[in-house]
Amino acid sequence: MKWPAGVTIKEVGPRDGLQNEKSFISTEDKITWINQMSESGLKHIEITSFVNPKWIPALSDAVAVATGITKVPGVTYTALVPNHQGLERAFQANIDEVAVFMSASETHNLKNINKNIDQTLPVLRDLVRDSLTAGKSTRGYVSTVFGCPYEGHVDIEGVIKVSEALFEMGIGELSLGDTIGVANPKQVHEVLEVLLKRFPADKLAMHFHDTRGTALANILVSLDMGITTFDSSLGGLGGCPYAPGASGNVATDDLLYMLHGMVIHTGVDQQKLLYASQFIQEKIGRTLPSKSFQAASSAGLGGILGSSV
Ligand code: HMG
Ligand code: MG
Repeated sequence: MKWPAGVTIKEVGPRDGLQNEKSFISTEDKITWINQMSESGLKHIEITSFVNPKWIPALSDAVAVATGITKVPGVTYTALVPNHQGLERAFQANIDEVAVFMSASETHNLKNINKNIDQTLPVLRDLVRDSLTAGKSTRGYVSTVFGCPYEGHVDIEGVIKVSEALFEMGIGELSLGDTIGVANPKQVHEVLEVLLKRFPADKLAMHFHDTRGTALANILVSLDMGITTFDSSLGGLGGCPYAPGASGNVATDDLLYMLHGMVIHTGVDQQKLLYASQFIQEKIGRTLPSKSFQAASSAGLGGILGSSV
């Protein structure tokens, strides 16, 4: 297998990680947590989403969070935006990057954003155009690439169709979502083999949820195929409330442990993030899924880990 010298980590904990939490994390705690991340060497943090607050009450304080954080130069602060109302709020909050999102499967798209795929495309096209005009960078998500909670198998043709449409709109990067954590390494290989014939590896990111414990294995295969950007969530929090059975993203802590052990550069100080994981675990009040974080916690959060690679 071949490994890259470096990898870009896109931290999605404050958005994907918190959107599914039953207890509301206070605005002040969210801001503190994001500020801790900003000091860790992470260069990309998805801090919230400007969706309908009735659909995602956990992130109803999106504007207050986005305007309350201390922005660190060189860090890109991203947020999810579903429609024009969301874009207005994102502009008001002066977000750096707009992430639009949709699904490869019709039923998840409908359950998640209340529109079918054909109705969604023109909305996202306008959002990307207006974001670019306003000088924002843009990112697109395709969910249910490897399986849908409602339809099961997802046809690769559907993934290609929405991916092409999103790139034609002008997005800078496409994140391929295993929304419910069903992918396995063989499937990742097969899907990427098809997609990499159409889209360059440096325009793709992988977004694995770790519901069944296969996320790191899927990342290894993706690395071997030339992908160098991965979404992950501190502590392994995460999940889409409109995808039954979805649980946490691959944990940033576990991903860093693996990458740094392989001498793959990330620029992130693992030690600093451990304290950020500790902080959010206390606020959430339950044990975080990340194995690496739990191992470090039981060793006293200090000794066994090196710093950044
Ligand atoms: P809708 O109910 O069809 O919207 O929702 P609407 O246009 O009919 O408006 C209904 C009401 O919502 C109106 O208020 C609007 O003003 C308000 P009312 O007149 O009833 O008082 N409204 C808004 N308010 C604030 N901000 C907004 C907004 N939009 C409408 N942006 C909508 C359509 C898309 C908004 C809704 O379905 C929604 O918010 N969906 C988001 C669901 C979500 O966030 N899911 C999780 C994120 S996706 C994910 O996790 C997957 C990912 O991680 C990748 C992966 O894992 O695969 C990205
Ligand atoms: Mg997700």
